[in-house]
Amino acid sequence: MTRRSPITGAGRPPGFVYREEKKGLLRRSAGLFLFCDDIAITKLAEHYGTPLYVYSASVISERFDAFDRAFRHVPHTICYSVKANSNLNILRLLAKGGSGFDVVSGGELERVLVAERRAAKKVVFSGVGKTRDEITAALKAGILLFNVESESELWTLAECAARLRTSAPLALRVNPDVAADTHPYISTGLRKHKFGVPIREARTLYAKASAVRYLQVTGVSVHIGSQITEVAPFAEAMARVAVLVGALRADGHEVNYVDPGGGLGIPYENGAAMNFSDYASDYSKAITRPLRGLNVHVLLEPGRSIVGPAGALVTRVLYRKTNDGKRFVVVDAAMNDLLRPALYGAHHEIVPVRRGEDSSVKFEAVDVVGPVCESGDFFARDRELPRVEEGELLAILDAGAYGMALASNYNTRPRPAELLVSGKSAKVIRRREKVADLLRDER
Ligand code: LLP
Repeated sequence: MTRRSPITGAGRPPGFVYREEKKGLLRRSAGLFLFCDDIAITKLAEHYGTPLYVYSASVISERFDAFDRAFRHVPHTICYSVKANSNLNILRLLAKGGSGFDVVSGGELERVLVAERRAAKKVVFSGVGKTRDEITAALKAGILLFNVESESELWTLAECAARLRTSAPLALRVNPDVAADTHPYISTGLRKHKFGVPIREARTLYAKASAVRYLQVTGVSVHIGSQITEVAPFAEAMARVAVLVGALRADGHEVNYVDPGGGLGIPYENGAAMNFSDYASDYSKAITRPLRGLNVHVLLEPGRSIVGPAGALVTRVLYRKTNDGKRFVVVDAAMNDLLRPALYGAHHEIVPVRRGEDSSVKFEAVDVVGPVCESGDFFARDRELPRVEEGELLAILDAGAYGMALASNYNTRPRPAELLVSGKSAKVIRRREKVADLLRDER
């Protein structure tokens, strides 16, 4: 099946839009050019090279604010999920807007502390395999909450806290056994998944935790998966959590926080059609309605929904080729730069950075592929795209989340530079890697 790609990125509020450029004395149209905020992407690519990650600061801030507004009727803290995009400048931008952070490793915690030391008190620490060193570092930093995922971790946490003569604030991450329609690799809320403790066993574990002097039971957490675009499973999970909160309080525990995790998806196709404020508000209702009357502080861990649409991966066409009638566009970005299509078969819109008037655009079905030596190295298969020539630029949209964060050096390919655009200015927030960087630690 071939799928026609919308050639207008127009309407994507407001980060990536086409604008008409004029040239010459007669101010003839030179065509439509994709901009990030107020800068033409062609200029960025010429100046900084490709492949190149470009993020819009205004889109990040606006999405964060919309998410925040959606929860204004309840006490809440947004703990942006660092794993989605962990660049220090993006963390700093979000911290300035009032965000806390969800971390899953000592490395992510260190990033948060470097970006904004004072954000430590708004950090939640999740993950099934926290090490003693990581736990100790988080205790020393004075984080808000440990989301504990097993009984063994509970004892390790108690031991680390005892050693520091402090008390560890914790929630158990319960597994609510709720199915969510998403890719199996990123669904987490079913019994068969490695995450959390079964909700049925939670009361027993909370009782054990409460008996330990160095542990301070303070909440319940849950996370059912990622890229979930229906809000019903969130409501279902929260309904189960609400019952648990009631039972725990009856058992005499203090439950101040409920952490519903992250996971709100984004429309990778037809993203322009969606109003994020309305969507965030639907999500907020699904989360908060089942919790009504419980008087809890809600912690939220969105990642993708904040930064996904704010980023694009810009790449240049190296070659066109045809194998037995099948057309390939070989670009200079590859699966090591953006893994999602290869790993999950994920769809990302791809648009030309410069396009002609609508009437003159010719479409063709192509595979957009990278230079890595694997057939899984593709960005699109049998996709109808406006014809692009060698040397022209393409933008792979919605790459702000789990793009650079999942990038690797496979095939000894240095990772792309990252730019944060704000209005008319662009800042290099990570310089392009060099091969020398990759060889440095090898003897
Ligand atoms: N909280 C916890 C405990 C998580 O495990 C995750 C994501 C989040 C929050 C943030 O979820 P978000 O709001 O971004 O959906 N690499 C995959 C996504 C993996 C998500 C893992 N956990 C992808 O590219 O689609």
